[in-house]
Amino acid sequence: MGFDALEIRRDFPILFRQVHGKPLVYFDNAATTQKPKSLIAALGSFYENHNGNIHRGAHTLSDEATTLVEEARQKTADFINAPKPETIIFTRNATEAINLVTHSWGRKFLRPGDEIILTELEHHSNLVPWQILAKEKSVKLRFIPIGADGDLDLVEARKLFSEKTKLVSFTAASNVLGTLPPVEEIISLAKKNGAKTLVDASQWTPHFKTDVRAWDPDFLVFSAHKMLGPTGLGVLYGRESLLEEMDPFLGGGDMIETVELETFTPNVLPAKFEAGTPAIAEAAVFPEALKYLSKIGFSAIDEQEQTLLKRALEILKNEPEVDIYGSLLPQNRGGVISFNLKGLHPHDVGTALDLEGVAVRTGHHCCQPLMRRLGVGGTVRASFYFYNTIDEVEVFGRALRKTIAFFKPKLKTAGAK
Ligand SMILES: Cc1ncc(COP(=O)(O)O)c(C=O)c1O
Repeated sequence: MGFDALEIRRDFPILFRQVHGKPLVYFDNAATTQKPKSLIAALGSFYENHNGNIHRGAHTLSDEATTLVEEARQKTADFINAPKPETIIFTRNATEAINLVTHSWGRKFLRPGDEIILTELEHHSNLVPWQILAKEKSVKLRFIPIGADGDLDLVEARKLFSEKTKLVSFTAASNVLGTLPPVEEIISLAKKNGAKTLVDASQWTPHFKTDVRAWDPDFLVFSAHKMLGPTGLGVLYGRESLLEEMDPFLGGGDMIETVELETFTPNVLPAKFEAGTPAIAEAAVFPEALKYLSKIGFSAIDEQEQTLLKRALEILKNEPEVDIYGSLLPQNRGGVISFNLKGLHPHDVGTALDLEGVAVRTGHHCCQPLMRRLGVGGTVRASFYFYNTIDEVEVFGRALRKTIAFFKPKLKTAGAK
């Protein structure tokens, strides 16, 4: 192991609480991660010492808050190796960042008959905004299918491209199956076909190094709250030339240069896309999360998650009552496992695990089309982060076996459908 997980856990106070009288085992990290003490303290300190509205006041607090937010923009750019801070737009979350692109790029540049390629893995956030746009602009959506192991079928993907393809928007890591699509290959395929690219990196940035200059997508989005940061803050990285060409998303304060009664001229980047008072405190403290992740390092994060994933897969594969979705090989997936107990509703499993202190997510995980593709209504999802331990995976295993024993009469075993 690249670091001492027990030592690290001391930085995350919530990991010491009890749930139903049992120590919390937090395996819902794909939904949101827990926050280190340094970030919680920074949030308190911001409100105690620097709170003011940004870009507006001729007073010290406003200046300090503005500096903190602009420093955060620079640090976010550095974190993903973006060429300039102006290419980082702060939004409320990844969902809003995608909606920004559908509105400001899609509405302006797409024409009836154009095509957008998505994948069967997508979260509703990277699906519904395109559906709305497709209806409005008579644009066709096409989908890269998945194979049995949850990987994208790139042979089929190649057949979807034509001169009509204007954009490929896809996840870098599935929030359900842990699939890690070949981002560079898809981007290069899109480029060869003259299409733009959007990478939904919501499940990638928390776990792996992100380098937008290496991948060179046109857009990349993620949410701070899934990577130790606060809720209410998302990031859109955009290629500068494209952001310049795009129209504003929301109208209001800050996004204008001048306003007449009938017209306005938009502000320069990034203000053009940041209407109204933004998530000031959240942006100001986000660098604490980035600093923490950099201190741990992504190779240590990956190593720890692989260890947990390997053991959890072993436990699940050992139970004949369990169906696992996606690849069974830990090295082919991120730290997310979706499974079901045969014949049991995922919510029943989730509730039983919660009684043992184990927090997992159940349901469709905002991926209803993927659930339909898998032939299920929902799954139980365990998702890990670097502060989780092997002991916690063993607790999960014992809680699962207890659940299986409790529901035994209702369960089907291997082979049975
Ligand atoms: C792959 C993926 N994309 C997008 C999102 C949306 O993130 P947010 O709700 O923070 O906008 C999520 C959240 O679970 C996700 O897993």
